[in-house]
Amino acid sequence: MILLTGATGKTGGEVARQLAAKGVICRALVRDAEKAASLTDSGIELVIGDMGDQAILAEALLGVDKAILILPNSAKQETLEKQFIDAASKAGVAHLVKLSSMEAVANTDSPIPAMHYAVEQHLKGSGMSWTMIRPNFFMQNLLSSAGTIKDKQGIFLPLGNGKTGMSDSRDIAALIVEAVTG
Ligand SMILES: NC(=O)c1ccc[n+]([C@@H]2O[C@H](COP(=O)([O-])OP(=O)(O)OC[C@H]3O[C@@H](n4cnc5c(N)ncnc54)[C@H](OP(=O)(O)O)[C@@H]3O)[C@@H](O)[C@H]2O)c1
Repeated sequence: MILLTGATGKTGGEVARQLAAKGVICRALVRDAEKAASLTDSGIELVIGDMGDQAILAEALLGVDKAILILPNSAKQETLEKQFIDAASKAGVAHLVKLSSMEAVANTDSPIPAMHYAVEQHLKGSGMSWTMIRPNFFMQNLLSSAGTIKDKQGIFLPLGNGKTGMSDSRDIAALIVEAVTG
């Protein structure tokens, strides 16, 4: 059994769609059953609850051999992800795939990449086998510029003269699906 988190989000939603299209049996841990209705329609089993709830985690991880960890950036992300890794290891999960970041390197002074790096180290020390998915800026982020494209014909980002290679979250999802099925 594969456990997917973040299944109502950008990347996890696409992972769910691609797993269902392949006929892969999977379970999703979601907070909002209504938001996850389309997942049930595609045959995905749901466990409803928050990732911070240990009892829910234990229920979601029952019989799981591969897990996919996706959470949004927040002050709680590092704690929640480390708790998830510990619970997965305790439940006997063999392989964990973590959505991380291309910038997750040692000695970074940027808080989100530093958090991802700390979680990666925790996962590496867990005894489970692992895959770190490390994308760059999602193309889907550009949708949030729809307003300024319409009103000012521009995209405004704090990039200076920097250049970036973007990732489509559908491609990231395909890589995650390959990591748990290939
Ligand atoms: N955006 C980028 O350019 C970029 C680039 C590289 C890496 N990343 C990394 O990608 C990750 C975010 O991925 P995403 O954009 O696909 O996420 P997203 O669209 O923000 O979706 C987050 C998912 O996590 C769920 N969730 C949040 N808190 C939860 C909790 N306490 N318990 C259970 N589920 C919870 C949300 O559920 P609800 O629907 O209930 O809220 C949602 O399904 C971050 O770690 C970020 O650092 C992003």
